[in-house]
Amino acid sequence: MKAVILCGGNGTRLFPASRKAMPKQFLKIFSGKSLFQSTLKRTLLTFNEEDLIVVTNERHKFLVKKQIEELLGEKDFNNFIFEPIGRNTAPAIALASKFALERLGADEEEVIFIFPSDHLILPEEALKVYLERAKKIAGENFLVTFGVKPTKPETGYGYIEAGQEIGEGAFRVKRFHEKPNFEVAVEYLSKGNFFWNSGMFAFKIGKVLEEFRRHSPEIYRLVSSLSFEELLESFSQMPDISIDYAVMEKAEDIAVIPMDIVWSDLGSWDALYDSLKDKEGENVKLGQVIDIDTKGSFILADKRIVSTIGVEDLIVVDSEDFLLITRRGESQRVREVVKKLEKDE
Ligand code: GDD
Ligand code: MG
Repeated sequence: MKAVILCGGNGTRLFPASRKAMPKQFLKIFSGKSLFQSTLKRTLLTFNEEDLIVVTNERHKFLVKKQIEELLGEKDFNNFIFEPIGRNTAPAIALASKFALERLGADEEEVIFIFPSDHLILPEEALKVYLERAKKIAGENFLVTFGVKPTKPETGYGYIEAGQEIGEGAFRVKRFHEKPNFEVAVEYLSKGNFFWNSGMFAFKIGKVLEEFRRHSPEIYRLVSSLSFEELLESFSQMPDISIDYAVMEKAEDIAVIPMDIVWSDLGSWDALYDSLKDKEGENVKLGQVIDIDTKGSFILADKRIVSTIGVEDLIVVDSEDFLLITRRGESQRVREVVKKLEKDE
């Protein structure tokens, strides 16, 4: 078993804390650890360090190395892949598969797990049982996805329609639909047998290569004809496409393992509030916060003490050089701030 952590994307939706130089996965939001570090820690509960591959953009090289060192100490961790250019997740997975085969002595029968690094999963240990199930189902030549019960018609996720049960806690997938529009998402939500795609996958290396051959010949041509080193050099020739569009929407042998855990991709401060609150109306506080007569608010204090009095339903994010205050429900609009800033810069 090998594990791949993907951490080469640049999420800007959590601005002010996350901008291009510091994408969301590297922000230290929880208990002094970044989402990337939490992913790493969680992954090491199931996988050995030497079976782990970290794929990121060259731009984040030092940041990633530093965060690994902070977590693991000064160890010789060398299973990095630094992409010269971002080509989204399908080429990143192809590259990691090649690395596993060439550098880690894997064969095509070996199961490889793919983990995004921009998620919150609680409790950390809860994942283990689902990974065990996935290993078995992936061994039966399925592309395994991990489903999360949807709670709203979110259009930023992939949706998985579950069919017949094929093993303990695993179902055959009738259809995988990446990022449907709002109307379709509303329809899926009402049906009951749809799950959000959590972004994690498990498959045999040979199986995913076979799926690239069928559905993404451009990627397959490069992976099958070049060595890992050459592939890295020719990386700009790869199409810019996610694994969801390149393979999952088109493939047939997909399975889903529904998970009963707290999961959030933290796309916005609102999503973060929703995933951290225990009940309606309570405050979620991170850092040094004094909340007096305050309800339903998310308050993050990074450097200073933040205090609120007599307010409701606010999002307050105080970071080193930027303060955001917005009503809950509107935090997606930080994109407008980013646009304005980019114009002024
Ligand atoms: N190495 C590398 N290179 N990693 C990348 C790249 C890249 O070019 N692009 C993205 N990633 C990493 C991101 O850092 C993140 O950890 C993960 O791959 C997923 O990429 P996102 O860009 O965050 O995908 P998404 O959130 O839009 O959609 C995916 O995740 C959703 C759940 O959060 C899809 O799989 C959806 O179906 C899914 O619902
Ligand atoms: Mg994401």
